Amino acid sequence: MPIVDVHTHIYPPTYVDLLRSRKTAPYIRTFPDAPDSPRLIILPGEDDPSTPSTSRGRPIGPEYFDMAQKIAFMDQHKIDTSVISLANPWLDFLSAEEAGEVARRINGDVEKICAAYPGRLYAFGTLPLSADMETIVGEVKRLGGMKYMRGVIIGTSGLGKGLDDEALDPVYAALEESGQLIFLHPHYGLPASVYGPRASEYGHVLPLALGFPLETTIAVARMLLSGVWDRFKKLNVLLAHSGGTLPFLAGRIESCIQHDGYLKKLGKTKNRRHVWDILKTNIYLDAVIYSEVGLKAAVDASGADRLLFAGTDHPFFPPLEEAKEWHSVSTNYSAISKAFEGDGDLARGVLGGNAVRILRLGE
Ligand code: URA
Ligand code: ZN
Repeated sequence: MPIVDVHTHIYPPTYVDLLRSRKTAPYIRTFPDAPDSPRLIILPGEDDPSTPSTSRGRPIGPEYFDMAQKIAFMDQHKIDTSVISLANPWLDFLSAEEAGEVARRINGDVEKICAAYPGRLYAFGTLPLSADMETIVGEVKRLGGMKYMRGVIIGTSGLGKGLDDEALDPVYAALEESGQLIFLHPHYGLPASVYGPRASEYGHVLPLALGFPLETTIAVARMLLSGVWDRFKKLNVLLAHSGGTLPFLAGRIESCIQHDGYLKKLGKTKNRRHVWDILKTNIYLDAVIYSEVGLKAAVDASGADRLLFAGTDHPFFPPLEEAKEWHSVSTNYSAISKAFEGDGDLARGVLGGNAVRILRLGE
C-alpha cells in the first residue's frame, strides 16, 4: 500500500516572483544585516518592526519551490505520492483584477509540475477568491477538468466575510457538482491581542500551535451554523491539522446549539444536520497533529477510514539542527504506528490507502 502525503506545500516559481516583487506582507525580502538570507514573511504581525529583522518570518530557500528537493524529501521519508498545494496565504491578497489571471497561471504551472512526475504528484488547486463570482466558478470548473487536480486549497476568509457567507454558495455548488474536495487550511490565526504583550518573546509558537487550529475550528463551526452542509450534502472538506480542535470540541458545539434559546426561537435547533453526522460524512481529517492522543480523537470523531496521513507540512517545520530525517515527519509516523498498534490494515489506510480511495489517485 503506498504512502501518500496530502498536506505538503509549494510556492511555484510564478508565486515566488510575485512575493519577491512585493513590499508588504506577504513578501520575500532580505535585510541589510543579512543580504544573502532571504526571508519569507507571510503571517499577520510577522513584519512587526519591533522584531529583530533576522527573526521576522522564516528563511526561504529552494525547498519551497524546487521540485527536485520535494521529490528528494519524499524519497528520504518513504513517501510514494504527494498531493501538493500552494502554501498560505494563497491568492487572498490579490486585487479583483489580477486574481483570475494569476490563478490560471499558477494552477497551470502546478498541473505541469505534476505531469513531470507521473504517479508521484497530484495537487489541490488555488482559487482567485478576490475575483468576481464568474471567474471563481470558471476556475473551479477548469480545475475539475485537469488530470492531476483533486480539489482546491482555501483559507478561512472566503470572499472576505468567512466561509459562512451565503455569497459563496455558487462556489460550494460548483465544487460539490464536480466532486472536488476543499482542503481547508488556516492562515490568519486569532487577533494578536489574545497572545498578550509578551507575544514577541515566544517565537511562532502561539499562532502556529493554537491560532491556526482555533481558526480552523471557528471556520468549520461557522459553516455548520450557517447550514452549509444542509444545503450541500455532498460537499467534502479535508481539515488541516486533524481538524484543529474540532474532534475535541464537537460535543460542546452540539450542546451549545441545543441549549441556545435564540436558535430555538428561530427554529434552527431542529431539522439540521448534526456535527457528528457531518464529521462522519463530509469531513476528512489529516494526521498533522504530532501525537497519538490527538490522532485518537480524530479517529473517534471521523473514523479511521476518513483520516489521511499528511505527516509533513513540508517545507514548513524543518529540523533546526543538522539532521537527515525531519523530526516533524517522524513524530507523525510514530504517532500513527502507536495509535494503530496491532491493526496494520487501519494503519495502512491512514498512511495511504484512504487517500488513494478518497482522492481517486492512480485514475
Ligand atoms: N506555517 C505556515 O505559515 N503554513 C503552514 O502550512 C505551516 C506552518
Ligand atoms: Zn500546511
